[in-house]
This record gives sequence, structure tokens and C-alpha cells, in this order.
Amino acid sequence: MFDAKARYVRSLFSKVPLEYDILLGLLSFAQDRRWRAYVVSLARSSDNELVLDLATGTGLLAADFARAISDRGYVVGVDLTLSMLKTARTRLQSKGLGDKADWVLARAENLPFRSECFGSASISLALRNVSDAQCTFHEMSRTTGRGGVVISLDFARPPNHLFRIFYYDYLLGLFPVFGRMVSDAWGKTLSYLGRSILRARTGEQIASLMSREGLDNAHPVSLTAGVVCAVYGTKR
Ligand SMILES: C[S@@+](CC[C@H](N)C(=O)[O-])C[C@H]1O[C@@H](n2cnc3c(N)ncnc32)[C@H](O)[C@@H]1O
Repeated sequence: MFDAKARYVRSLFSKVPLEYDILLGLLSFAQDRRWRAYVVSLARSSDNELVLDLATGTGLLAADFARAISDRGYVVGVDLTLSMLKTARTRLQSKGLGDKADWVLARAENLPFRSECFGSASISLALRNVSDAQCTFHEMSRTTGRGGVVISLDFARPPNHLFRIFYYDYLLGLFPVFGRMVSDAWGKTLSYLGRSILRARTGEQIASLMSREGLDNAHPVSLTAGVVCAVYGTKR
């Protein structure tokens, strides 16, 4: 079942898969690579190399996971937007990583996997988009085996007040203008992105959602002056 938010999110993302990677790189000043490398380094602490990447989008993080894991490892990318998943599949195939990944059209809040089958689970730049974050962590925790790591990486509100002034100008002013220069769809997507970041949960709030789902030692780590925040915990 798709609620109004899921339908809205899917309609936004179904129009933007081709330019997504370029715009993410430009708008993050290429920091997105560092953020993904950090997530991959956290997930690698698990022996079970079956990795779940929720809201995988165009598969940028899934590709990094696929490169990092051994031949026994495997990545499963889940998304509710078919065109994103198709782009992800093409990306990994074109990089010779096609046989290390599979793609599932599903919602993060209701995963079609048995319990404790993954070694680790991630959701990157997408927690703001899901309709129910608690339910999403419930599903991530349920499908992750004991000792596995559950990770959320998402945009956040930087703590420094002076930096915030410039950053919010960039986010709410320049972002949508950049977007409209590319297309109408991107104008809408980037103006949604800016507004959703202003409403984003703090790292502590995300850690508390994780703790409620049986994830130990859940805690936030700020990256790039607090522009993004990684939160991770270990399945009890
Ligand atoms: C900003 S993209 C992030 C893509 C990728 N994880 C990254 O780090 O580049 C957000 C993705 O989340 C997906 N998404 C949003 N809500 C979702 C949900 N409830 N379940 C599954 N996927 C969802 C969208 O379809 C979109 O592909």
C-alpha cells in the first residue's frame, strides 16, 4: 500500500534518475563519495557479507558495497521507484558488478525478506523520504543478523549558527534555482530536498528510534561540518 507521501516521493524520483549522480556530486561538492566510503567502512565490520541497501536509488552506495565485499558477498538494493532501480542495475552491470547485486521493488517499511538474513543494512540520504522511520528501522533491525550493523546516513542541520546562515541560503535559494536550470522535475525535487532537510530529525532522535528497535550503542557521527549525519547501531 502506498500512502500520499510514498506516492509523492515516487513521483519526484521517477523523473530524475539519469541526472541524479551528477547533481548529487555537484551539490555536495563531491563529498558524497566520502560519505559513502564511511558507510561502507561501518558495514564491513560484519562477517556476513550479505548487505541490504534500502532506498538504493541509482545504486551509488550499492556499487561501493559490491566493490568492497569479497566474492562470497552480495548486495540487495531496495527502492520503491522502478526507474531508480533500473538505473542502479544498469550501473552495476556496466561496471562488471552485476553478478554481485540484486534489486527489489519494495517499501522500506515492509520488507519481503526473512528475519536476520543480512549481515548489515543501510539507508542513505533517504530517511527523510520514508513515510514511517520507526517502521523502517524495525524492518532493518528485523532483517539484520545478531552483531550486524544498521546504518542511516542523511542530510542534517549543521550545528554552527554562522555556517547555517550560508548553508540555508544555498539550500533554499540556490538549490531550487540550479534544479530549474536542469528541468522542472529537478526544480521540484531540489526544493523538496531543501524543505525536508529543515525538518530532518537530529542524530540523537534517529539514534533513539534505532535503540527502540534493539540496536545497541546507536549514536550519531557528524560529517562535513554537520551537513550530513551518520547514525549506526549494532543488532543485539
Ligand atoms: C535521494 S535518493 C537516495 C539514493 C541513494 N540511497 C543515495 O544515497 O544516493 C532517495 C531514494 O529513496 C527512495 N525511497 C524513498 N522512500 C522510500 C521508501 N519508503 N521505500 C523505499 N525507497 C524509498 C526513492 O525512490 C529514491 O530512489
